[in-house]
Amino acid sequence: MTTNSRIIFNEMPHGLPNPKTALIVDDTQSIDLDNVPLQGGILVKALAFSLDPYMRNRMRPVEIQGDIDAFALGETITGFSVAVVLRSETPLIQAGQHVYGFMHANALGMKGLSLQVLDNKYNLPWRYYVGILGMTGQTAYYGLKDISNPKPGETLYISAACGAVGHMVVQLAKAQGLKVIASCGSDQKVSLVKSLGADHVFNYKTANTAAELRMHGPIDIYFDNVGGPTLEAAIDNVACNARIVICGMVSQYNLGTDKTYGIRNLWLLNRYRAKMEGLVVIDWADKYLDEFHDVVPRDLAAGKLKYLEHVYNGMERVGEALVDLLIGNNVGKSVLVLEDGV
Ligand SMILES: NC(=O)c1ccc[n+]([C@@H]2O[C@H](COP(=O)([O-])OP(=O)(O)OC[C@H]3O[C@@H](n4cnc5c(N)ncnc54)[C@H](OP(=O)(O)O)[C@@H]3O)[C@@H](O)[C@H]2O)c1
Repeated sequence: MTTNSRIIFNEMPHGLPNPKTALIVDDTQSIDLDNVPLQGGILVKALAFSLDPYMRNRMRPVEIQGDIDAFALGETITGFSVAVVLRSETPLIQAGQHVYGFMHANALGMKGLSLQVLDNKYNLPWRYYVGILGMTGQTAYYGLKDISNPKPGETLYISAACGAVGHMVVQLAKAQGLKVIASCGSDQKVSLVKSLGADHVFNYKTANTAAELRMHGPIDIYFDNVGGPTLEAAIDNVACNARIVICGMVSQYNLGTDKTYGIRNLWLLNRYRAKMEGLVVIDWADKYLDEFHDVVPRDLAAGKLKYLEHVYNGMERVGEALVDLLIGNNVGKSVLVLEDGV
C-alpha cells in the first residue's frame, strides 16, 4: 500500500485564511497502486497543483451559492492539476502520458475521462500546464481578445501586473502594440514588470493610483484583477469607448459581503460610452483554446514570452501558498510542485 496524501479544507476563514489551519494535508489514506479498481478510467500521480485566488471564494458555507462550488469542510479540495498516468483501462489514454484538468488534490487518484491529454511538443516543464499553459494563461489570452478588442496605439491598464494573469497580459498587450500602464504591490515587482516591457509601472502601495492614471492615461482598456478603489480610479480615467474587463477582484475576497467596496462613479461609463464586461475563462475556450495551444507554447519555447512563477515544493506548503497569493507575497504564478524536477 502507498500513502495517498491529500489536501483538506479544514477551517472556514473569517477574513484572511490561517495559513496553518485553513488547508491541511491528511496522510491517513493509502492506495494499492497495482490493484485499485479503475472502472474503465485511469490512475494518476499528481505532479503540480495550481493555487488560485478563486479558491478563497470557495471557502464559504456550502449553502451559499457562488459561481463555483464551495469547498466542503473536512473534504479533499479540487483545483487545476497536471498529473502523469500510472495505469489506464481506456484506449483513449496510455500509461506514461500526462494529463491536465480539474482534479481532487490527492497525490494519487482514479480519474474519469474529462481530462486533457497533453501534447508537450516543445518539451516544456510539465508544471507550466497549471500556469501559463493552463487556466491562468488562458485567462490572459482570452481576455485580450473580444472583450478588450485592442487596437495598436491604445492604452491598457493592468492591475496585479506581476501575478499569474497580469504578467502575461502585459506581454500580450505589448506584442499587440498597446501602451501598457501596470500596477503591482512592491518595488521588486515594479522592476520585473518593467523588464517585461510595460511602459509605465507603479507600486500602488506607495503611489496614488488615480494620479498615476491621470498622468499616463486616459485608458482605453482596463484589465481589472483587483476591483475596489483601483477599479474606481480606472473608471475615473477612461477614454471615450473604453472597455473594462472584469477578470477578478482579489482586493475584495477576504472582506465579508457586507464590507465590499461600493464603486461610486459608474455614471462615467455613460459619459464616456464605456463598457464593462465580466470575463470567465471557460466561456471562451471553444473559440480560442486551439489557437492558444498553437501560439503560447511556441512563443514560450522561442523566448518571446517570459514566465514568472512562484514554486512551492511539497503539499504541506499549500496554506502558506494560498495566503501568499491573497496578500501579494507571490511573484508570478503560484504553483505547488509535488515532485522534483517536473
Ligand atoms: N475570470 C476568470 O476566469 C479568472 C481566471 C483566473 C484568475 N482570475 C482573477 O484574476 C486575478 C488575478 O489572479 P492570478 O491568478 O493572476 O493571481 P496573482 O495575480 O498571481 O495573485 C494575486 C495578486 O493579487 C494582488 N493583490 C492581493 N491583494 C490585493 C489588494 N488588496 N489590492 C491589490 N492587489 C492585491 C497581489 O499582488 P500585488 O503584490 O501586486 O498586490 C497578488 O500577488 C484574481 O482576481 C483572480 O480571481 C479570474
